[in-house]
Amino acid sequence: MDELEPADDPFSQLETWLAEGRAVVPHPETMTLATATPDGRPSARIVLFRGLDGHGITFFTNRTSRKGEELRLNPRVAAVIHWWELGRQVRIEGEVEETSADESRAYWESRPRGSQLAAWASRQSRPLSRREELDAHVAEAEERFAGNEVPLPSFWGGYRILPGSIEFWTHRENRLHDRIRYVRDRGGWRVERLAP
Ligand SMILES: Cc1cc2nc3c(=O)[nH]c(=O)nc-3n(C[C@H](O)[C@H](O)[C@H](O)COP(=O)(O)O)c2cc1C
Repeated sequence: MDELEPADDPFSQLETWLAEGRAVVPHPETMTLATATPDGRPSARIVLFRGLDGHGITFFTNRTSRKGEELRLNPRVAAVIHWWELGRQVRIEGEVEETSADESRAYWESRPRGSQLAAWASRQSRPLSRREELDAHVAEAEERFAGNEVPLPSFWGGYRILPGSIEFWTHRENRLHDRIRYVRDRGGWRVERLAP
């Protein structure tokens, strides 16, 4: 990023960093996502971000998972992406909205059949008595959808993070890192520099 002239909006900045990331980082779309219960108890896990447009950043999951349940009650999230090879970190804070069924379906249809069957078979984040229980659910799903396309489950879909702020962090010598933060401001973006 040109520190003196950051892009006008953070999405094009992120797009540029992603493109640079793809050249050197195996999976630059790997993101740590933090959600929280309504009373503020946080939890974090890795998800893959799958889309970036002028409004937000999308990821897909099981809506009945722990994160899905937390998001249903509290849409606030924080996410972090770190690319060691580039000495870069991106921090995102905002709220999620659910992607439309059409958007979820479009992504669902791009997934391998095995992943689709796994989504039907896994009651994500619920306790399992043993591995064989999961294998049995997979076998049931295989049988149920044998010879047919695997449809989008009603409990599965995407979320779009609508950021209130995005910070772009760049490693510099002696811990004198560059930090440029975009903050939503009256429909546009205010850009500020933060001390490292
Ligand atoms: C590299 C990596 C990518 C992952 N991508 C996703 C993803 O895109 N969606 C998802 O639901 N889980 C993904 N997972 C699994 C989650 O980290 C997590 O185990 C699961 O979603 C359950 O989390 P929860 O109980 O907090 O909802 C990924 C895990 C790893 C390590």
